[in-house]
Amino acid sequence: METKDLYKAADNRYDNRQMYTYCGHSGVILPKLSLGFWHNFGSVDPYERSRAITHYAFDHGITHFDLANNYGPVYGSAEETLGKLMDDSFRPYRDELFISTKAGYDMWQGPYGNGGSRKYLMASLNQSLKRMHLDYVDLFYSHRYDPNTPVEETLQTLVDIVRAGKALYVGISNWPLEQLRKGYDYLAAHDVPLLIYQGKLNRLYTEHIDNGLLRFCHEKGIGYIAFSPLAQGLLTDRYVNGIPSDSRMAKGKFLRAEQLTDEVRAKVAAVRVEAAERKISTAQRALGWILEQQGVTSVLVGASSVEQLQDNMAVLTTD
Ligand SMILES: NC(=O)c1ccc[n+]([C@@H]2O[C@H](COP(=O)([O-])OP(=O)(O)OC[C@H]3O[C@@H](n4cnc5c(N)ncnc54)[C@H](OP(=O)(O)O)[C@@H]3O)[C@@H](O)[C@H]2O)c1
Repeated sequence: METKDLYKAADNRYDNRQMYTYCGHSGVILPKLSLGFWHNFGSVDPYERSRAITHYAFDHGITHFDLANNYGPVYGSAEETLGKLMDDSFRPYRDELFISTKAGYDMWQGPYGNGGSRKYLMASLNQSLKRMHLDYVDLFYSHRYDPNTPVEETLQTLVDIVRAGKALYVGISNWPLEQLRKGYDYLAAHDVPLLIYQGKLNRLYTEHIDNGLLRFCHEKGIGYIAFSPLAQGLLTDRYVNGIPSDSRMAKGKFLRAEQLTDEVRAKVAAVRVEAAERKISTAQRALGWILEQQGVTSVLVGASSVEQLQDNMAVLTTD
């Protein structure tokens, strides 16, 4: 009979005191480095590798896993992987985990599988909970601003999701600053404070510093979690000697060779110099720079191997 090794989390997983910070003006403590499931956790990826990455993460104090309805590929399959991981490893640790998911982008065909409507968000979250084998998520996001849906409809749905006990907190991702202001006010007026904003921030993309969105979050006590902090791998040594066949750029869908322009190469080279001066890796310098920005709660990394995650996590133990 096949026997599966039971996972037991490392006893010393909370030993790194530099690891945690409060999320804005809330009682929620998040790890400064969180793990994203956008890539590397789909049905096309080896389950054992996904499992090893999550075990390493949790064993080293990463308590926050970030998902969305359409992460995969195929759509939904990253949530299914999380569901299997809950069954195989993490069920005894459910209350030590902070799990988020989102809806907003393309998910299923027809008029109700995309956007910001109540119909889509409610149905999507119900599906997500089933795939993840969870009764509730810790955090549910509106994944994008939908100009075709009245903003109040999306926001009231977030309020009602919390009231229904399907999410403990709500967040907003990718909304422009003007809409974020409305969202913050609406949610505060309905006693469901906006916990966190999820936005793209890295050494190659600084819009939320430049336009004041990060400052707004800081001033209002909204947490800020930075996605694609390594610009999907550009801000590492992954592409120093060409395009590795197993890299995200080789897959060519979300990161394309044309993005590696001379200007990008020059900016990455500057980060590499800073890293060398500090005797740390390029990835660690890229992540460290984000964590230095006032108002940033956490960086949300992706990793296709345990070694990459190990490299990234060292940012929390190097000066
Ligand atoms: N809200 C949104 O709209 C949104 C959008 C995008 C992402 N996100 C969230 O943010 C998370 C992270 O995004 P991301 O995957 O783009 O993050 P990222 O950390 O910028 O990129 C991750 C990729 O970089 C490479 N990498 C990571 N660490 C490395 C290291 N130490 N050395 C060399 N290469 C390294 C790997 O690429 P290879 O695969 O080539 O090895 C890895 O898959 C997502 O999983 C998701 O949760 C949210």
